[in-house]
Amino acid sequence: MHPPVPLLLPHKAESTVELCSYIVPKNTQVLINVWTMGRDPNIWENPTSFEPERFLNSNMDFKGQDFELIPFGAGRRICPGLPLAYRMLYLMLASLLHTFNWKLEDGLKPEDMDMEENFGLTLQKAIPLKAIPIKI
Ligand code: HEM
Repeated sequence: MHPPVPLLLPHKAESTVELCSYIVPKNTQVLINVWTMGRDPNIWENPTSFEPERFLNSNMDFKGQDFELIPFGAGRRICPGLPLAYRMLYLMLASLLHTFNWKLEDGLKPEDMDMEENFGLTLQKAIPLKAIPIKI
């Protein structure tokens, strides 16, 4: 739902190609809107609902083979940082969750958090998350 790079990086068609019955002329700049793909009800059931368990019994992967979910892109220009990024993300998040309990500021409930986004080359939370650690 919140891909860090919402339009991937700009690509350029090296030659004229036909894609899904659309003609893409040579030299066209092509942006891939993964932000919209992540919210497309034709692809995802309840797309805007946070249900990480939707992946539990699925073979779908984010490594560029399943085109519904390509936060790192796909093909030749896929993010070369993918192997580092996903190891570090799990390690950092798991370490933080393992070491602390967490609460939101001013008794804010998770379901009431403002999830608006600021668009740019990268996507950021409009209102930064303030999570307060409590040492276990
Ligand atoms: C969660 C973390 C990250 C995400 C979601 C991410 C996502 C992306 C995306 C979407 C692209 C464009 C792919 C395309 O256009 O098809 C990209 C390109 C790239 N990423 Fe990442 N990235 C992440 C972390 C990293 C890290 C840790 C590094 C380096 C250590 C890195 C280095 C690069 C480079 C050099 C490119 C350009 C590749 C090219 O154009 O050939 N990324 N990344």
